[in-house]
Amino acid sequence: MRIGVLTGGGDCPGLNAVIRAIVRKGHQLGGHEFVGFRYGWAGVLKDEAIDLTLDSTRGILHRGGTILGSSRTNPYKVDGGADAVRQTMQARSLDALIPIGGEDTLGVAGRLHADGVNVVGVPKTIDNDLAATDFTFGFQTAVQIATDAIDRLHTTAESHNRVIIVEVMGRHAGWIALYSGLAGGADVVLIPERPFDLEEVCEHIRRRHQAGRTFSIVVVAEGATPQDGDLISEHQETDAFGHVRLGGIAVTLEKEIEERTGYESRMTILGHVQRGGTPLAFDRVLGTRFGVAAMAAAAEGEFGQMVALRGTRIELVPLAEALAEPKLVDPGLYETAEVFFG
Ligand code: F6P
Repeated sequence: MRIGVLTGGGDCPGLNAVIRAIVRKGHQLGGHEFVGFRYGWAGVLKDEAIDLTLDSTRGILHRGGTILGSSRTNPYKVDGGADAVRQTMQARSLDALIPIGGEDTLGVAGRLHADGVNVVGVPKTIDNDLAATDFTFGFQTAVQIATDAIDRLHTTAESHNRVIIVEVMGRHAGWIALYSGLAGGADVVLIPERPFDLEEVCEHIRRRHQAGRTFSIVVVAEGATPQDGDLISEHQETDAFGHVRLGGIAVTLEKEIEERTGYESRMTILGHVQRGGTPLAFDRVLGTRFGVAAMAAAAEGEFGQMVALRGTRIELVPLAEALAEPKLVDPGLYETAEVFFG
């Protein structure tokens, strides 16, 4: 078989592990060749690709980012985009595509599959909010980076008797905020699934300080919203999939919390630090397992499917199942975190 591989959407640690694993499994099975499209769907539309061989995918397991590059290009927002995808596949005699991406990249994959293109999806999102898989690779690395930051912010918050607000990624779901908040001992965690009442947050901080604590750590997901308002972002622009660029809710919280409580406040936005650098072992292993399973599925003709982690096993699930709804934070897990608030 000839297979095209691409990485779309926001990057995350572990993408190179997947690419390497697809090629290595294909080599083990024998008779498969690969091209890697540059910058996600943009490379398919422009027919810009490199050969993926054993040699070109050596030494990349531990490297962050993606050797292919990534973008948020949407072929369905481009005139004749779906036809261009088919033309590129024909010109390169490709039998199938393995797109590695989140809701947007795999959403395109799902539509292409409905249009008769052979695809096997690999789930990727730092936010861990894709349904049908227990975890996506890159998430654990992001949680560790955020936890390390919270540990560091704890000591300076304590030295200065400050409230420190730490903003982490998480557009629809607060997985990174909740996991890093639990691991880092946050006093308040604000997530998109539970719109917050700012006065309640302030009251909580006041009670904590009146009880003798001299500092507080608030972890907020960038997509968290106040009960009486909309998304708070420092930006206006949207991407090709219609998502507003997020980032900056911590700026508002810093100002409001300081004004309302009188406690000196500072904010830190972790941003893309969470997506950069070397993947943790967990993410290298998960990415590798996904890559091997995706290649095996393609060889078996299991198209329209996505590889997924279910418990400890890697399984195939219909792309449609993964794309139906985002996977939101389990309320029970939030209740566990609440035990430690205050
Ligand atoms: O979709 C994953 C994500 O990391 C979000 O958490 C974040 O809002 C967004 O990507 C950032 O995207 P970009 O890299 O395009 O700024």
